[in-house]
Order: sequence, then structure tokens, then C-alpha cells
Amino acid sequence: MSMARFLTLEGIEGAGKSTVGKFVLGWLARQRIPGRLTREPGGTPLAERVRQLVLERGSEPLSPVAETLLMFAARDLHLKNLIRPALERGEWVICDRFTDATRAYQGSGRGVDAGLIETLAGAVQGKLEPDCTLLLDLPPSVGLARARSREAGPADRFEAETLAFFERVRSGYLELARRAPRRFRVIDASAALAAVEARVEAILEDLV
Ligand code: TMP
Repeated sequence: MSMARFLTLEGIEGAGKSTVGKFVLGWLARQRIPGRLTREPGGTPLAERVRQLVLERGSEPLSPVAETLLMFAARDLHLKNLIRPALERGEWVICDRFTDATRAYQGSGRGVDAGLIETLAGAVQGKLEPDCTLLLDLPPSVGLARARSREAGPADRFEAETLAFFERVRSGYLELARRAPRRFRVIDASAALAAVEARVEAILEDLV
């Protein structure tokens, strides 16, 4: 059995993370590697309830710090009840967003103190870091147009954000990738799907 890997998918809205997640799962199945696709915030029944709280546009304002704490509450549940047990069983875990999303959205996007985010990350994750993070990068104007054209319902709290917010999130992600080049693989998500998948496949072959 190959060693379990923890792979995370990151990027702004409309970057194609869900499509890439399904592609990775299919690729693993063809290699007969057990894999599991999950997402944040969410992934377990309780964490999905936290997801509803943070995404819904209610009348009561949710402060950036409260938003950050909720992301980490969901992450703690997800790590203890799904991610760590799956990795211990030898399964690959492909997680659609993880702590880099908090660094980019709450940190760079909302201005939450980076020290607070790292303290919470340490408390929740301990030494666990993704083995590899695929950052699907594209201009926010392209991503948002894609996301808005495929979504039928009303925008959630993040989708309703301004272009300037997503520009900060994108810059935040690119800065994280610059600082951790061994963990991150930056993929041009504005390219054709076949090109994106070919790039992902090459990365997976390297990881096995
Ligand atoms: P999704 O639509 O990609 O599933 O993500 C839900 C939203 O949650 C997305 O707009 C990004 C946001 N988010 C954060 O702001 N911080 C986080 O830590 C995570 C995991 C997601």
C-alpha cells in the first residue's frame, strides 16, 4: 500500500477546485489508491452545520475574528473526526480548502492578525501540514464570472464580496506559495481544462 498523502486544493471562487478534486479522485481510483474527497468548512455533520453558519447571509454581522474562530472550530472537528482517521487508515485525503484559505480570506482578505491565525492553526493542527497544496490561480474577474454564471441561488457571504476583496485573497495565496515553494504547486486555472488536468496528473505522479 502506498503511503497516505494529504492534498489540499486552494483558489478563489470559480477557479475549478471541485472539478480538479473529482479528477484527482478518479486518477487515484485508476491507480487503485484509496482516496477521499472532502471540503472545508465542512466535511463532517457538525462541521457542515458550522459551514451553514458562516456562509449564510443573516441579519447579524459576523466579525472577521468570529469568522476565523468558526473556520477553526469546523477544522478541528474535521481533523479529529475525518481527516486524521482517514490518513491513519492509509487513505489519501483531498481537501477542498484548508488553513491556507483562512490565511488568504480572513488574513489577507479581511485583515485578521496573522499571529492569531497561526496560533489557532498550531492548536488545531499540531504538526500536520498538507503534503502538497494545489493553488488554482486565475484573475478574480474571470473566476467570479464563472462562479456567478453556474450558481442558481443567491450569493453567499463570500460570493457577495467585492472584486477588491478577491484581489487581496489572490495576492495572499500567491504570497503563501512564494513562501512555501516546496509544498505549493501554482496552476494557471485560466487555461483549458485539459491543460489543467495534465498539470495535475504530472504533480500526482510525482507525489506517489
Ligand atoms: P467553497 O465555496 O469553496 O466551498 O468555500 C466556501 C467559502 O468559504 C469560500 O468563499 C471561502 C470561504 N473560506 C474562508 O473564508 N476561510 C476558510 O478557512 C475556508 C475553509 C473557507
